[in-house]
Amino acid sequence: MCGIVGYAGAGEAGPLLLEGLGRLAYRGYDSAGVAVCGDDGRLSVIRAAGRLDRLREKTQDGAALHGSCGIGHTRWATHGAPDERNAHPHASPDGLTAIVHNGIIGNHLLLRSRLEAMGYVFRSETDTEAAALLLHACWLACGESDPRRRALAALRGMAAQLTGSYAICALFAGQPDAVYAVRRGSPLVIGCCDGGYMLASDVPALLGRAHHAVHLHDGEYACVSAEAVELYDADGCRISRESEALDIAPEAADKGGYAHYMLKEIVEQPQALRRTIGAYTGEAGGSLRADLQAAGLGRERLAAVRHVLLFGCGSAYHAGVAGRYAMERLARIPCRAELASELRSRELLLDQAGTLAVAVSQSGETADTLAALRLCRAHGVPVLAVVNAAHSTMAREADGVLLTRAGPEIAVATTKAYTAQAAVLDLLAIALAAARGCIGVREEASLLGALHALPDAVGDLLGVRDSIRRIAEGMAGAHSAFFIGRGIDHAAAMEGSLKLKEVSYIHAEAYPAGELKHGAISLIEPGVPVIGICTQTDTAARMQTAMAEAGSRGACLVHISSGECAVPGAQEIRLPQAHPLIAPVLAAVPLQLLAYEIGCLRGLDVDQPRNLAKSVTVE
Ligand code: AGP
Repeated sequence: MCGIVGYAGAGEAGPLLLEGLGRLAYRGYDSAGVAVCGDDGRLSVIRAAGRLDRLREKTQDGAALHGSCGIGHTRWATHGAPDERNAHPHASPDGLTAIVHNGIIGNHLLLRSRLEAMGYVFRSETDTEAAALLLHACWLACGESDPRRRALAALRGMAAQLTGSYAICALFAGQPDAVYAVRRGSPLVIGCCDGGYMLASDVPALLGRAHHAVHLHDGEYACVSAEAVELYDADGCRISRESEALDIAPEAADKGGYAHYMLKEIVEQPQALRRTIGAYTGEAGGSLRADLQAAGLGRERLAAVRHVLLFGCGSAYHAGVAGRYAMERLARIPCRAELASELRSRELLLDQAGTLAVAVSQSGETADTLAALRLCRAHGVPVLAVVNAAHSTMAREADGVLLTRAGPEIAVATTKAYTAQAAVLDLLAIALAAARGCIGVREEASLLGALHALPDAVGDLLGVRDSIRRIAEGMAGAHSAFFIGRGIDHAAAMEGSLKLKEVSYIHAEAYPAGELKHGAISLIEPGVPVIGICTQTDTAARMQTAMAEAGSRGACLVHISSGECAVPGAQEIRLPQAHPLIAPVLAAVPLQLLAYEIGCLRGLDVDQPRNLAKSVTVE
């Protein structure tokens, strides 16, 4: 989704902005632009539709822009076509102000008509231009003589009239030494670099440049110059906040010799899982115990939970569905897994005292999940966030946080963050089961031992890549595919189907295996791939039946299973022997590889699939 960078410092802003935008490209975008305030105080704006290379060409890698303060943006179109006219930055017609914006201005139509009535002429179809022109109007209306105070007052005046979500960075002509920022609902972080500061919507844009970072909170403003960051609260009062060390090595966001980030991140899963599982297990009395104290979930607190509500979007929702099965089975606790994007359209019917709500999200910024988190908290239900981004809005707003320690995930299609989420939800299931007395100390230790075996099992499983490539060659020309599984394996089926859709553009559907014959089987014809996932012995026989039903209609069968029983006529992928708790997590790995190989065979950009964004910060 859209990305913001900004710079104020001793160096030339242009090349640094282009570099930062390059690091944000993974989020998905369709146009980009930069604005720099020259030493003469004039603003220069350059924008280009399409890939960043177009902007690099137009700006000679940023060198064509002179000045030490600037802002840049990658746009993912919401209001208006993905063309140059709608690309950010948006400047006032007289070149006095320019802004970049992430999020959506809810009342932009109302603002547009008000501004048009004042004589402003809009040059784009974006919601952002309403904020840009409003800022200009506020600047003109402000009586302050000091330029910085006037800029801050104008920004506050603009923000007071905006609804919706935004992170905005602004430049003012005549102020070649300052970048201004304000946010509500969309993230913005200020990185402390040698010789200046960088602003960004996402920490990866800062990697390799910033050593520390200051996170701007909702409603706050900043004036950033080469020398200092001045922070203000919503009322305009000066505030201070310590910067935090950025503990992510810049290499963590490199491809590390792999052809794609997606492949690198698939291969990184053993380490990601080891870090994540290790963080929440400890020894007590010589036995392994789940330890969720970091999230304020001691045994007493867990024992009081009567009902669990898991929610997330996309893959995070799938992790929640898998977690639901684990919690029901191990902790014998009623559990719902909901799509965060649908939660607000339902009656919540939550028992305030006994419900533990769990928001699952890699980015911690997904607008729908964040809205659901806020809704639960507004209903008096405490929310636990399972997030990968430690400084995300969800991490800040939740009542407790369990971090997945997958490291930065750059490919749009999630892989290592998904398996890390599934592992954390397994840990939560084990901790709940122990706290509720459903399992004894010995069984807890044995389940945790099984979870500790997961990283090595994933490592072994990566060896199936050659077999997967052969299967992929047979599937690369398909128009449609089905993923089926029963019970907890349906979660893996949904994840496999989503991965395939995202990176190969093949239409795919996930079905609980028993449902296929209730309608969708009419779509099975010779050659249609049907991928069956079976990790549980109690469902193996019924899965064989469902696969046979598809096979007898000519489907091209692929069977991913932990058991010994093969499906006649299917290409078989065997998962390593594993505890039934962790086998469904293992099943994700060949499904990720399958999607990846097919995407590559079809010549697609698997890291940045069309129309998708890494972090969906609009509802
Ligand atoms: C997964 O491959 C997708 N890119 C997408 O479904 C993603 O899981 C979803 O948008 C949720 O993102 P989050 O985990 O950052 O909240």
